[in-house]
Amino acid sequence: MLKDRVAIITGAVRGIGLGIAKKFAENGCHIVLNVHPDQSEEGVKKAKDIEGLGVTCMSVGADISDSKQVADLVRKTIGTFGKTDILVNNAAVAPHPKSVIDIPEEEWDLVLAVNLKGAFLLCKEVSPFMKQAGYGRIINISATSGIAPTIRDAHYNSSKAGLNMLTKDVAVELAPFNVTVNSICPGIIRTELTESVVPPGVDKTEFFASITKVNIPMERPGYPEDVANAALFFASDLASYVTGETLLVAGGAPLFRARIPE
Ligand SMILES: NC(=O)c1ccc[n+]([C@@H]2O[C@H](COP(=O)([O-])OP(=O)(O)OC[C@H]3O[C@@H](n4cnc5c(N)ncnc54)[C@H](O)[C@@H]3O)[C@@H](O)[C@H]2O)c1
Repeated sequence: MLKDRVAIITGAVRGIGLGIAKKFAENGCHIVLNVHPDQSEEGVKKAKDIEGLGVTCMSVGADISDSKQVADLVRKTIGTFGKTDILVNNAAVAPHPKSVIDIPEEEWDLVLAVNLKGAFLLCKEVSPFMKQAGYGRIINISATSGIAPTIRDAHYNSSKAGLNMLTKDVAVELAPFNVTVNSICPGIIRTELTESVVPPGVDKTEFFASITKVNIPMERPGYPEDVANAALFFASDLASYVTGETLLVAGGAPLFRARIPE
């Protein structure tokens, strides 16, 4: 579905980003696997694995909250592949939940710098190339909590709500150039990130079963592949007339499920 396209995927060393990279590669897309500079070694290993799927994959260490490093990431992509067809803004930080009273100013700034400014910087750098090519697909990985907030996550939720609006704004601006921009809002997805909140000694599968039973109408967590399937749709020609959309991949969350005693 994506034969010989080129995709930049941010924060893709593991979890949802890596899942999207693999799904795109299985569909013939060459991959620029952005990883945080601290994860460069791991990024090279993951890129080799992806090349096993028969495409070219380059790992590029760059902190996406830094405009110079983002410009360098896009320069390397154009230098190697001559184009950038698809951008997936996946990288994010999700600090441990805390009351708005207790969020340190530096933590607020970090979350907004990575989750929202980082996506803006990537859009800013790739847009001129996409406009010139008359083709582009931008996919922002947001969260259901950017629509209906989870408790004690003011900075994370605000960053994701901002990302949903950035999606709509850039979608309108780039629509005449055949560049689509869409958001995906995952709910509870089982990744290394969400597994890290399981208390020590608690069985991970039981933990996810118990939290999804009350919060997710489908009563199970999602997996990176669920989000990757939605990203593949937005990246493919099947979605060529879909832009400015926000798609929830969340097993029915955050729909309210009234519990009526049986
Ligand atoms: N897992 C879930 O339940 C869930 C739910 C809703 C939304 N999401 C969103 O999905 C995306 C992926 O989440 P995940 O669960 O795979 O978690 P993750 O922590 O594995 O993914 C985030 C990645 O971003 C990278 N990153 C952080 N700061 C960076 C920076 N400055 N520069 C470059 N890379 C940086 C991290 O190293 C990490 O690899 C995130 O945007 C997250 O907010 C996840």
